[in-house]
Amino acid sequence: MATVTQKRQIGVGGLKISARARQYVMNVLDSNRLSIGKYVHTFEAKFARLHSRRFGVMANSGTSALQVALAAMKEKHGWQDGDEVIVPAITFIATSNIVLYNHMKPVFVDVDPLTYNIDPGRIEAAITPRTRAILPVHLFGLPCDMDPIMEIAVKHNLAVLEDSCETMFVHYRGRPVGSFGEAACFSTYVAHILVTGVGGLTLCDDPDLAVICRSLIAHGRDSIYLDIDSDDNLTDNDLRDVIERRFSFVRLGHSFRPTEMEAALGLAQLEEYEKLLEGRQHNARRLTEGLKDLEDELQLPVIPEDREHAFMMYPITVKRPGLRNDLVAFLEDRGIETRFAFPLLTQPVYQKLFKLDMRNFPVADRIGKNAFYIGCHQELSDEDIDYVVEAFHEFFKRGRMV
Ligand SMILES: Cc1ncc(COP(=O)(O)O)c(C=O)c1O
Repeated sequence: MATVTQKRQIGVGGLKISARARQYVMNVLDSNRLSIGKYVHTFEAKFARLHSRRFGVMANSGTSALQVALAAMKEKHGWQDGDEVIVPAITFIATSNIVLYNHMKPVFVDVDPLTYNIDPGRIEAAITPRTRAILPVHLFGLPCDMDPIMEIAVKHNLAVLEDSCETMFVHYRGRPVGSFGEAACFSTYVAHILVTGVGGLTLCDDPDLAVICRSLIAHGRDSIYLDIDSDDNLTDNDLRDVIERRFSFVRLGHSFRPTEMEAALGLAQLEEYEKLLEGRQHNARRLTEGLKDLEDELQLPVIPEDREHAFMMYPITVKRPGLRNDLVAFLEDRGIETRFAFPLLTQPVYQKLFKLDMRNFPVADRIGKNAFYIGCHQELSDEDIDYVVEAFHEFFKRGRMV
């Protein structure tokens, strides 16, 4: 095993731009075309197909993808301002922010202590006459327990929007993550599984919903003209129609368009996604193997038998209360990057907005105080992982001596 005297840099994310990615970006530059075109459409179609979806709409971030997906669902179903959306009590803040930006109300539900995902057993208690949707989040790379969530949704006539910003390419009971709800959104931000700098996708099967999303990322434009190719090869009345309607805005939209360069990077990585996924899963297995003897101290990630884990991150809960921050400082001092595991409800902005009592969210409260994550991305070597394992052991050995 490596020794911790030699300091490495173990980031939560890692990226190597491949020769293929360089080539695709050069192709974009050589084509002199940066706005949505061939690369965006190919990336969308391939990503959608991999997740058993008919349509993909690329946006400039996962947050934008979620924002327009919920807005499109709100428009399609005629939901009202103030209607409610069920959201897990542990997630990245963008999940619930987009509910607020859509003038709807996030209703928080506690999570499962082992998977960190929304606890389906607690959802029904949060449903009111104004509930319209459930927004499960597949956190850290692990799909939620989707069957009971979908059953509750059907029983109460609720829509489901999957926040899959942290999880792609893996299956729950044989079905791809992101193929369950009316729509599912993904992020390709830095440190995610595919990395395009900024970027996100909404997937869905309803062509009308896809068109509304496309319109919403382009200022709410009339669907007759959603990118600059829309008037190509048209003549006579068809051309006149486009000319008359292409500067028409039919809903309140945003400027959320990606460029061809993000899509070129995404497509190059998509073409080797199995390698990226296997690298993460290998590193996670090696971490679990190496840390197993510390299970009295650490709760390591679980992978329920009915699903796969994409391991965007490697989450850990420290069992002894009050020890997490010392451990995290010790790891950071050795170049091992960490993040707290998404305490959401105690964020200053949410405390001000909601004034929630954490006693109503005991699991989220414990995770917020005691959990964190480290990286296990494909650019880390076996020696890097051994270095991390050794650092954990050194911390607990020292702890025992005092
Ligand atoms: C669960 C979750 N939802 C939404 C987002 C937002 O994605 P982006 O950063 O691409 O806007 C993230 C990103 O970190 C996330 O982890």
